[in-house]
Amino acid sequence: MKVRGVVRPPGDKSISHRALMLAALARGTSTVAGLLPSDDVKSTARVLRQLGAEISTVRDGATVTVRSKPLTTPHARLNCGNSGTTARLMLGILAGQRFRATLTGDASLRRRPMRRVTEPLRTMGAEIVEQRGDGLPLEIRGGRLRGLVYTSPVASAQVKSALLLAGLTGGVPVTIREPYRSRDHTERLFAHLGLGIREHDSVISYQPSAVSVRPFEMAVAGDTSSAAFLVAAAVLAEQGELSIENVGVNPTRTGYLVVLNRMGARVDRVNLRDEGGEPVADLIARPAGLTATKVSAREIPTLVDEVPILAVLASRARGETVFREVGELRVKESNRLELVAANLRAVGVRAEARGNDLHVEGTERPPRGRVETASDHRLAMAFAVLGTVPGADVRLSERRSVAISYPGFFKDLKRIGAR
Ligand code: S3P
Repeated sequence: MKVRGVVRPPGDKSISHRALMLAALARGTSTVAGLLPSDDVKSTARVLRQLGAEISTVRDGATVTVRSKPLTTPHARLNCGNSGTTARLMLGILAGQRFRATLTGDASLRRRPMRRVTEPLRTMGAEIVEQRGDGLPLEIRGGRLRGLVYTSPVASAQVKSALLLAGLTGGVPVTIREPYRSRDHTERLFAHLGLGIREHDSVISYQPSAVSVRPFEMAVAGDTSSAAFLVAAAVLAEQGELSIENVGVNPTRTGYLVVLNRMGARVDRVNLRDEGGEPVADLIARPAGLTATKVSAREIPTLVDEVPILAVLASRARGETVFREVGELRVKESNRLELVAANLRAVGVRAEARGNDLHVEGTERPPRGRVETASDHRLAMAFAVLGTVPGADVRLSERRSVAISYPGFFKDLKRIGAR
């Protein structure tokens, strides 16, 4: 197979959520170009509209306008769909509001843990009532908050962001320490908007000020996590070269490029620039022979969403690759740790979760078999890429889930010649 051409991944999912939320908290009208038009981002837009923000239609190519209003009591439950980022960050925003709201989500989201966010928010003074244990639905009543100094047990950008947003809406200082550095989009956007954020010795502090969030105009760069699937398709191709334009290269997100480099695939970054406080570049990816590597616990937060596609690449590498301490994958959109291993085995690869580590042994045999995606977008995309290798016969249980983060994925995969 020969890879070719130029492709632009859709807008960054993490930044898209944060841009909508901060625009809804600003005083006035903001515009966001390049917003990701996916199901998860539409969930955030829907929830913010239910709270009173006026947000224009989120669709491909449209610049989205957000006219903020003071947030008000919603008339119905806030349905966050499949989106953990929507649920957790909105809990932070709602913690600083003096009204009651109930958050819920689809079956996958209702299974995901929320206490990692609700416990520190309660310490800040939010009232939160669980309806079914550690998960959604949850009723939250925010109000007068106290400042927080918190050491998070998990390296989670969603936890960190929820607490920073609670500090912002509640007007109280927040200091957070995390075991390893997780993605820093919230900190960068706060800094870009002139909000009182500082980082010192890996401790992040927010200090409220009297000024309100001013409206802004921004452009969201392409999602590096979506680009990772295209990079992987290019690496697995037999010949050619792929240019992936306008990709966010924030170092808290590009751990997969570091690991790929160690495995023998060099991806070039050209036209490095800045977009709304975030580094952006064009990536050039080419086919490469891969060797196995060890991925350390410290690296995991910088590639947490790329473990499925890296595991797929490891299945084509010489030797055994180990991902250390990837227990967090059990509580993503699916149990990604067990499903990545089980699906690799289903297509003839030796792979296993041992404790919290994932082991994958590379093979040259063509992958053949049926993959259960459990409606998890990243599993569907990772195994679709595996299906592009010569002689492969990889059948996916479904393909619709890609709409969660990359609606045009199959079209792009075909266009670059990989399918
Ligand atoms: C996200 C953070 C990550 C990631 C998710 C998006 C975010 O979760 O898996 O897809 O936008 O903050 P954790 O940081 O909670 O692991």
